[in-house]
Amino acid sequence: MRLGTPLSDTAIRVMLLGAGELGKEVAIELQRLGVEVIAVDRYPNAPAMQVAHRSHVIPMTDAQVLNGVILAEAPHIIVPEIEAIATEVLAEIEAAGLARVIPTARATQLTMNREGIRRLAAEALGLPTSPFAFAGSAEELAAGAEAVGYPCFVKPVMSSSGKGQSFVEAPEEIADAWAHAEASGRVAGGRVIVEGRIDFDFEITLLTVRSLDADGQVRTDFCAPIGHRQVKGDYVESWQPQAMTEAALASARDIAGKVTEALGGLGVFGVELFVKGDQVWFSEVSPRPHDTGLVTLATQTMSEFALHARAILGLPVDVSQREPGASAVIYGGMEAHGVAFEGLAQALSVPTADLRLFGKPEAFERRRMGVATARGADVDQARERAREASARVRVVRD
Ligand SMILES: Nc1ncnc2c1ncn2[C@@H]1O[C@H](COP(=O)(O)OP(=O)(O)O)[C@@H](O)[C@H]1O
Ligand SMILES: [Mg+2]
Repeated sequence: MRLGTPLSDTAIRVMLLGAGELGKEVAIELQRLGVEVIAVDRYPNAPAMQVAHRSHVIPMTDAQVLNGVILAEAPHIIVPEIEAIATEVLAEIEAAGLARVIPTARATQLTMNREGIRRLAAEALGLPTSPFAFAGSAEELAAGAEAVGYPCFVKPVMSSSGKGQSFVEAPEEIADAWAHAEASGRVAGGRVIVEGRIDFDFEITLLTVRSLDADGQVRTDFCAPIGHRQVKGDYVESWQPQAMTEAALASARDIAGKVTEALGGLGVFGVELFVKGDQVWFSEVSPRPHDTGLVTLATQTMSEFALHARAILGLPVDVSQREPGASAVIYGGMEAHGVAFEGLAQALSVPTADLRLFGKPEAFERRRMGVATARGADVDQARERAREASARVRVVRD
């Protein structure tokens, strides 16, 4: 791999499809290596657009429009940041040899639909998962819930960040769960997965990196496990490392190694796993940096964003952790454009605290507007500090 000069004939051009806070950090890492960055999202002034060479505002689910932008920009590498993309376009671009898709076009297709990745993991690879069934109507859902057992989770097959999900404890809640999923799923004719609940001790994200070594061979490395707490399907705090037994860690790496090998390509994957004692279940995987991995900005020699940038460029990576740390999300807490942030000096006077304010043009009640990170002698201290720093930041209207 050779890197060039941005905006010249030697430039390596990377197009980010999705320009949120995770893409912003990837863009910054690419900028540091002199890569030409093109950010694409549905709305203007998205976080990564603010640090890119150029940007485009398009509906990324519109195949024709997406194809047009890719052909016009002719990127060498396409980096999807979200799932809601016309992935068939990526498959055509990849097949025609026009650009590399990260990690692969097939991986983006399989993971954008819960059915694709679940069947790969549970059926093709035989990995342990929650019991599950798919349903295309309220009646099928009722039968599926009966089969997997109550309580269960109902999720649109095309959805992320907890959207359209329900936790269902009894048959009389099925109709509501179906209606909720249908109303908020992304596309694809109201299809859902129903999963039996795993009574886990904790859940982790195992960041798994596929990169090339100096001889050009693909290697797989695992970051220290990240623990996290979810509220309504959205992460509110994460920490690294999550303590776990050696047997569970070995099993987690085995599962993550298998699923990422099956997806292929280069880059960071966020493998979500449930853990109880020595037992580990596969939940889902993002073929890209993971939101809970924002903690690595504070904890690792190379953050997950730096790891992604290096790996996709075919360069070697270092997954070592330096110190225990934690992250705590800063929510909008209101609906407003152009909000301001106060209490920053107080937040940053928490020992080791740092902040990322994403620069999103519009705040919503539950929109992630920033994150506080902190380090500590142990994870408990780091969590305490990150939560305190996050709590001291006030989002205000002008
Ligand atoms: N089968 C399950 N058993 C226990 N908890 C679950 C199960 N499915 C989902 N959850 C909880 O809901 C969260 C969000 O579910 P997930 O499948 O990861 O959806 P999303 O794609 O929106 O992140 C998980 O991180 C976990 O806390
Ligand atoms: Mg998830």
